[in-house]
Amino acid sequence: MITGTTQLYGIIGHPVYHTCSPSMHNAAFQSLEIDAVYLPFSVTPEHLASAMEALRSLQIQGVNVTIPHKTKVIPFLDELELPALFTGAVNTIRNDQGRLIGTNTDGEGFIRALHAAGYSSRNKRVLLLGAGGSSRAILASLAKEGTDAIFLFNRTLEKAEQLVCDFQSHFPTVSIQTIHESVLQTLSIDWIINTTSVGMNGTDLPISFPISLLSLTLVVDIIYHPPVTPLLQQASAQGISILNGQGMLLHQGVAAFEFWTQQPAPVAIMAQALCRCIGN
Ligand code: ATR
Repeated sequence: MITGTTQLYGIIGHPVYHTCSPSMHNAAFQSLEIDAVYLPFSVTPEHLASAMEALRSLQIQGVNVTIPHKTKVIPFLDELELPALFTGAVNTIRNDQGRLIGTNTDGEGFIRALHAAGYSSRNKRVLLLGAGGSSRAILASLAKEGTDAIFLFNRTLEKAEQLVCDFQSHFPTVSIQTIHESVLQTLSIDWIINTTSVGMNGTDLPISFPISLLSLTLVVDIIYHPPVTPLLQQASAQGISILNGQGMLLHQGVAAFEFWTQQPAPVAIMAQALCRCIGN
């Protein structure tokens, strides 16, 4: 029930009609009997500044941020937490009495999803595909968790090289290096993690050689639609364990909820709401 004291939360992006975040967060608020509501706010780029001001004037307590605003919101914030500094992108903002604090829960969401599925990246050798915002978030979390080695492969090599430059000094005990596609097959690796959008169309593969040539134990794709991308199909056919992006989507939301409310999120309730929204 919406009352005179109901607190406002939401998501800003453009478009936002497809988002499952309202389903997850409203289910969480209801289950914990928190007097709050979460709404989608479709904000075009030219209205971003006024929308950020509205967070203060309307006392909106927290928002998620999605495409195309994840980097553009940064100049409007008062403080950035470390994950946002590492990724150069913000997906969650908390309004502390007019002070806007930005963070990025994608990396934490990824690690929590791994743990929930029974995996730890500790001492693993990982091939990370892609060098965009998601890759940065995941790279920082993997390095923090004690991954042994991270090989970066990206269509645009310079972007992968930039990641090595940005991260290696922060994580001196983790080997972080770029890799050419021609030598991918000679790598000794345990996991592949795809952070590129390749596979969303249900047909394309992010690497052009058969993964059966590697002795992998896990292949992760952060794509969740389709639930089984061609890369995951190939891995599954080889008997390799697979994980899609639904867990990361859930747990970035769980971490955002906890960042706002400073209390444990009802993970199972949020997972059910997400499943209903995605349609599985
Ligand atoms: P996100 O925030 O989801 O990481 P992003 O920052 O736009 O999105 O990054 C997209 C990633 O997918 C990049 O690594 C991009 O490669 P480039 O750096 O070469 O652009 C990768 N990507 C997108 N489309 C691709 C394609 N068709 N083939 C290979 N890589 C692709």
